[in-house]
Amino acid sequence: MNPKTVSAGGVMTGGVTGSSVLVTGGAGYIGSHAVKALADAGYDVCVFDNLSAGHREAVSRIANRYPDRRVTLVVGDVGDRAAVARALTESQAQAVMHFAARLSVGESVREPAKYYETNVTGTLAVLAAMADVGVHRFVFSSTAATFGEPVAIPIDEDHPQVPINPYGETKLAVERALGHLGAATPMRAVIFRYFNAAGADPDGLLGEDHSPEEHLIPRAIAAVMTGKPLQIFGTDYPTPDGTCVRDFVHVSDLASAHLAGLTSLEAGGASAAYNLGMGDGVSVRELVASVARVTGRDVPHVVGPRRPGDPSSLVATSARVRAALAWEPQYGDLDTIVRTAWVWHQSHPKGYGTTE
Ligand code: UFG
Repeated sequence: MNPKTVSAGGVMTGGVTGSSVLVTGGAGYIGSHAVKALADAGYDVCVFDNLSAGHREAVSRIANRYPDRRVTLVVGDVGDRAAVARALTESQAQAVMHFAARLSVGESVREPAKYYETNVTGTLAVLAAMADVGVHRFVFSSTAATFGEPVAIPIDEDHPQVPINPYGETKLAVERALGHLGAATPMRAVIFRYFNAAGADPDGLLGEDHSPEEHLIPRAIAAVMTGKPLQIFGTDYPTPDGTCVRDFVHVSDLASAHLAGLTSLEAGGASAAYNLGMGDGVSVRELVASVARVTGRDVPHVVGPRRPGDPSSLVATSARVRAALAWEPQYGDLDTIVRTAWVWHQSHPKGYGTTE
């Protein structure tokens, strides 16, 4: 069974069996893992995605895995307020998880207008569509990039938010808009600021497939698989081994946090913002060592200059989300995160396009 696919102007038919959620960007990396978690928890899901970066195949796989859930795909753009409103009405969604966004820091510096258009204007259109049809529960993907260069590690929710690139600015603009909307309208939002999303669905159904791929773990794995060396961007940072330090959090643990955020809104909980990370600082060199351990092979690599816009260290404290939403990450161990990614990339050397 394939997901019911309609254009943004199309009509979906069929009965809604359970509580329903609209997931923008649900064909993408983090969004698809959240869709699977929702389906697994008994929700019907309407994925709203323009497929510019997402994969129809990811939605198909979830629909096939959960035949008793209604998992649909509407191909449309988040800037199209009427199309979002129609999808909300037709799917009878009572909440929105909003993942659709542009997400590359470097690209945001080169082409900021695109980022404001998709991440700010597009999100405001989704929020307007929700108001149009009386849906007031919103779970929002934000980012550690809203903090900019940290002044204290680990970063908690009260850390100043001073982004150093347009990507972070656009996400922060939405965070601020949600605060104002919450004061003036019935809209309630849970905001999650991800640190470094990583790994793949432990069941092997879903994984990371970006084009171009810019993230460290898939690039390190590609180096193992192809023999083409990974470039380490900078070894002169003020960190223990001179390479950047990051906080890797498993994508399925991000998904479970989204579910907990949704549940809190359903229970009448207040708006809130939470950092999502494991609290473990891992340097680029330590990550490379983990990939070598997990794969049992050398990771060919060379040292290169710093990548502009990279903060030296980004490590979260997630004490607040653990306490407020009882969030308990299941895949926190670094080698476990890397292993799930390795399993995915080995079985999908060309992403969703091919499997072996
Ligand atoms: N890195 C390399 N070589 C590579 C790729 C990355 O050395 O080929 C290094 C980077 O310089 C950085 C670390 O690996 O120090 C992690 O880089 P990623 O690109 O995997 O992730 P980022 O930390 O840059 O980005 C993540 C999210 C962004 C978010 C950002 C917050 O992907 O969406 O955290 O700063 F904005």
